[in-house]
Amino acid sequence: LEEKGKQELLDMVRSISDIRIHYIRQKEPRGLGHAILCAKQFIGNEPFAVLLGDDVVYNDEKPALRQLIDVYEKTGTSVLGVQEVPREKVSSYGIVATRGTSDPRTFAVADMVEKPPVEEAPSRMAVLGRYIITPEIFEILERTNPGAGGEIQLTDGLRALLKIQSIYAYNFEGRRYDVGDKQGFLEASVEYALRRPDLRDGFLKYLEEIVAKEK
Ligand code: G1P
Repeated sequence: LEEKGKQELLDMVRSISDIRIHYIRQKEPRGLGHAILCAKQFIGNEPFAVLLGDDVVYNDEKPALRQLIDVYEKTGTSVLGVQEVPREKVSSYGIVATRGTSDPRTFAVADMVEKPPVEEAPSRMAVLGRYIITPEIFEILERTNPGAGGEIQLTDGLRALLKIQSIYAYNFEGRRYDVGDKQGFLEASVEYALRRPDLRDGFLKYLEEIVAKEK
């Protein structure tokens, strides 16, 4: 890139290359709780972040994870990123029962349940793929039995953690996409394209042509 004078691309590659990535494969699909337990050796005795790749959040001012870190810095305990979901989606998520705090976006978690039927759900506040978790979770996950769907559920581990520590839920700001869902994946692709100045005009024109043809 340097030889070809592609400075902008070179700067971009340099800006993202100074990181170290460690990864471990979860060799059997034994649940999210088990997947996190697999990463124990990298983390040691520190709080850590969990980001689920099928939940994408757009916020150009403050990313969802940064919002949770700010709450962690005040509370020093685990923080779950939540948003309200429609009734028909409640049974797809971990749902929290909460108590309000002095901040309208921050809640104390009173209880949580994995994928409840809507009529049994304590609220419509769903955990959406962003977590800050304290390391005490590891010894809990080591003795957590398989729960919903026969998997070791992070939600069950967090419920046990709640017995020994407070946990907060933060109603984060940002447009969240479920890219594990076909419609959600398409919405994210279209909206992200429209946010890019280099793609917006051409892409919008393309969309307008498609819509005109479909009508
Ligand atoms: C997982 C968690 C669930 C959480 C969801 C967020 O479920 O188990 O508590 O609400 O991610 O996307 P999954 O989507 O893997 O079924």
